[in-house]
Amino acid sequence: MTEKRISAGILGTGWAVPDKVVTNQDLTRLVDTNDAWIVERTGIRERRVAEDMPVSELAYRAAKMALDDAGTAPEELDLIIVATLTPDRVIPSTACVLQDRLGATRAAAFDLSAACSGFAYASTVAGQFISNGMYRKVLVIGAETLSKVVDWTDRNTCILFGDGAGAAVYGPVEDGYGLLSFDLGSDGSGADVLDIPSSGSLNPVTAQTLAQRLNFIHMDGKAVFRFAVDIMGKTVESSLAKIGMEKESIDWLVPHQANIRIIKSAAKRLKLPLEKAIINIEHYGNMSAASIPVALAEAAHAHRFKKGDIIALAGFGAGLTWASCIVKWAKED
Ligand code: ACO
Repeated sequence: MTEKRISAGILGTGWAVPDKVVTNQDLTRLVDTNDAWIVERTGIRERRVAEDMPVSELAYRAAKMALDDAGTAPEELDLIIVATLTPDRVIPSTACVLQDRLGATRAAAFDLSAACSGFAYASTVAGQFISNGMYRKVLVIGAETLSKVVDWTDRNTCILFGDGAGAAVYGPVEDGYGLLSFDLGSDGSGADVLDIPSSGSLNPVTAQTLAQRLNFIHMDGKAVFRFAVDIMGKTVESSLAKIGMEKESIDWLVPHQANIRIIKSAAKRLKLPLEKAIINIEHYGNMSAASIPVALAEAAHAHRFKKGDIIALAGFGAGLTWASCIVKWAKED
């Protein structure tokens, strides 16, 4: 006997970025680089930097906006999931900090670690709780302050990343709308391709690891690029195949914003004109778990989606991980 499942979808979205803008030109004062190289190789022109602000502040602002947009009171939330690789602290979770700040008195709260795939992973988790009827309202946030874990003397990485937060309130929607399918994946054999070597129990932070700058992001850019170019389109294809949907049905792609060349290659594979991909990498760079929800929220608030549109969220990142969700937009504009 199959149980009746409740359709789970997005009720509201929000985003927040810090005010401080760092342009490519600004970076030329820190490392041997130039605007033309960064724009041509990545598509990034500027990024936001949180300075003294903790990630919970960005997450809080994005969450408030999403709750307002959804018409949901904090007390209605059953669960808060924060996808991040830059929490305020290792413990407590940033989700717990938010639970208190928002006054979400009934909510359970936890952080989810899947790097840049985090928002799509967390959206899928939220969808399961709602679909099986155990929870009604789940707040999902992707939030990062990557500027705090980037080595500003390493031109291979410091040009790529930025800070921000995006949020979505998930809840029951009209039958047949909301989250239709997903694909989650991991390949831990690629763990060393993109990591913060001294950040936990494997290699605890010591004076020596700090001197070796092992507390910052280390990345084999070419290896990540090869992986990303293949997986971004593939994960969307897998999500579509599970529900017998054709690529041609996709109205919008909301991709992880790591490199414009990766986004272009995914759009091509999915036979989607680039205008149908939501792209904001030029202004924000790679905000890891925040990239997809910020792009989603900006597009939603710009009224780019209409009820019934098929939206593919697709991300990849450290782990290695990848994730995609197919969403039938349930919100009336
Ligand atoms: N400015 C100027 N020149 C540079 C810079 C820079 N910032 N960085 C590298 N170069 C030089 C290199 O030294 C090299 O010079 P050489 O040919 O004389 O040796 C040349 O430019 C080409 O360098 P590549 O590393 O081959 O450049 P590539 O085209 O591969 O682009 C990049 C590098 C942008 C990092 C690309 O590989 C990429 O986007 N990779 C994916 C990264 C990614 O998505 N990471 C995030 C994953 S999400 C997460 O979980 C956080």
